[in-house]
Amino acid sequence: MVSIKDVAAEAGVSVATVSRVLNSHPSVSPDARARVLAAVETLGYRPNAVARSLRTDQTRTLGLVISDVLNPYFTELARSVEEAARALGYSVIIGNADERPDLQDHHVRTLLDRRIDGLLVSPTDGGSPLMLEAARAGTPMVFVDRWIAGVDVPVVRADGREAVRDLVRHLHGLGHRRLAIIAGPAATTTGSERVEAFREALREHGLPLPEELIGQGDFQAASGRRVTEAFLALPEPPDVVFAADNLMALGALDAIRARGLRVPQDIGLAAFDDIPWFVHTDPPITAIAQPTGELGRAAVRALVDRIEGRPPESVTLPARLVVRRSCGEQSPENSPA
Ligand code: HPA
Repeated sequence: MVSIKDVAAEAGVSVATVSRVLNSHPSVSPDARARVLAAVETLGYRPNAVARSLRTDQTRTLGLVISDVLNPYFTELARSVEEAARALGYSVIIGNADERPDLQDHHVRTLLDRRIDGLLVSPTDGGSPLMLEAARAGTPMVFVDRWIAGVDVPVVRADGREAVRDLVRHLHGLGHRRLAIIAGPAATTTGSERVEAFREALREHGLPLPEELIGQGDFQAASGRRVTEAFLALPEPPDVVFAADNLMALGALDAIRARGLRVPQDIGLAAFDDIPWFVHTDPPITAIAQPTGELGRAAVRALVDRIEGRPPESVTLPARLVVRRSCGEQSPENSPA
């Protein structure tokens, strides 16, 4: 392995001069700088990040713990986090909790042991003692998408309340009255907020949300399938099923088709979270879209502000309704006015 001493010998300068060049120190002559950079190039020298971390007590690495890497929403979030971090000179290590609190704990512990400079978390469940302890002990941390109440950590998230209200108004306008929801876990903020927003929006139209039309899911596809099967077995099935995330919507679509029913002729389907292939399903799915890329970028900005000693900002961005055809939008007898 090429060392800093080899670079110094090749360039004919001292090790201290090489170090100054590599750290962009101004007090180096242009000639020495050029010779050092040429030597780095010729020898293929790579600075030792571990040695640098020991010197500076920084790893220039962020941890990102997400609840389900197979959920396209979180995949897109991770992509934008990684891109934004790279632009600011940080790398990202991703931990996938798979909606399991024990895995979440494992990742948080491993990342803290690796001395990441800060942690972005979308908590599974209500978080974990280790995570809360780290936040209290001053580990730079930002919650993204999901958050935990009562913890002094900035939150970057989308507020879907208005978009859910727009969706219910849209469904009501199409003549639907019996609306059901496949909810996410109540222990997550996104799970509980989406049900609450839906219930509130129905109330504004004088529509009830009876227990039989609230199905408990876990944000994964199998639960969407199971809950929809139960809805379809009711003496009076719902007119429309609203899935509180995209994976449960796909599960719902499976269950509807397995019964030989059609969307939207027999039952409507809407989803929270827009994903690229909702345009390509038959019919294309009406969905609530989040500004996922912007959320990832804002979360990284907040975390890096916190790491670098600037006051970090909590950010709330709006979600929006994207109307397609899965709720009967274009059938002649009930198209919107
Ligand atoms: N779970 C699943 N999908 C999501 C979530 C969530 O918390 N937030 C946005 N999409």
